[in-house]
Amino acid sequence: MNKKLTLFEMGPRDGLQNEKAPIPTADKISLINQLSDCGFEKIETSSFVSPKWVPQMADAAEVFAGITRNPGIRYTALTPNLKGYERAKLAGADEVAIFASASEGFSQKNINCSIEESFERFAPIIEAAKADGIPVRGYVSCVVECPYDGPTPAQNTARVSQRLLQMGCYQVSLGDTIGTAIPETTEEMLNAVLKVVPAEKLAGHFHDTKDFALANIMSSIKMGLRTFDAAIGGLGGCPYAPGAKGNVSTLAVAKMARMLDYDTGLDIEKLEKVQDFILSIKEAAA
Ligand code: HMG
Ligand code: MG
Repeated sequence: MNKKLTLFEMGPRDGLQNEKAPIPTADKISLINQLSDCGFEKIETSSFVSPKWVPQMADAAEVFAGITRNPGIRYTALTPNLKGYERAKLAGADEVAIFASASEGFSQKNINCSIEESFERFAPIIEAAKADGIPVRGYVSCVVECPYDGPTPAQNTARVSQRLLQMGCYQVSLGDTIGTAIPETTEEMLNAVLKVVPAEKLAGHFHDTKDFALANIMSSIKMGLRTFDAAIGGLGGCPYAPGAKGNVSTLAVAKMARMLDYDTGLDIEKLEKVQDFILSIKEAAA
């Protein structure tokens, strides 16, 4: 086995952010500690967003303070503005992520500003992170469709992706936020993005609303992508994307990768145990 596929674990952040009932901080910490033993290089641990907007992530600092860090893992966080960045830095986030949208409607609903205004907010984060030596990842949401604006022109996704990279993001994660992409639309979108951003700078972030996430990952692999976001137990969704289901299940992608002879470095048996754990916590909280 010599082909590598990197899975970026989203469970503690994208997975839990949409849970209505509060998940106890201790359970979030336990989840991250268990995931830390599964072979990931990166775990999105929480987000430093406004607690008024996403109450489930209000304990981000406590979560960061409580986890047992594995030195081989980057524990990452979302930061929508400089205030979020300062909180993330104080909490010791190893990497932060800014999140833009390829559609105006979702940008407004999710971060309360236009796409252009979001770049103005992100610029000081990138500047500060550069000075602090903290890597910045960029997300683009609604890469093929927006719950408010309908289908997203591939050129818009390409433009926002290119801009994030030019601003200093080391990688751009392409989000099928509402999980309605199919291989055809994924490939159309990627064809446009790959004209301006090389495949090694891209990640795929597929929600699994229509059960096409694995097929979209297959298409993306064929087009050269080697990093994919996934959430343990297929948890999640975005509070500002009605109807969106969870990220593609980490276990499902890890098993598919094994079938295709890709090395993810992940321990499938351990992932199964963590999945059972978080699904039981979710059930208990409901
Ligand atoms: P706003 O209301 O325009 O911001 O929200 P504001 O600057 O006017 O601040 C409002 C209040 O929030 C103030 O408090 C601020 O201090 C506070 P008050 O004075 O009223 O007491 N505040 C903060 N508190 C803590 N940390 C902060 C922070 N910022 C402001 N960082 C804002 C603008 C961006 C803050 C808001 O819209 C927000 O937090 N949005 C985040 C929404 C979110 O987390 N969505 C889910 C993540 S994105 C996603 O899931 C997609 C992704 O997975 C990819 C995909 O699937 O497509 C990444
Ligand atoms: Mg997402």
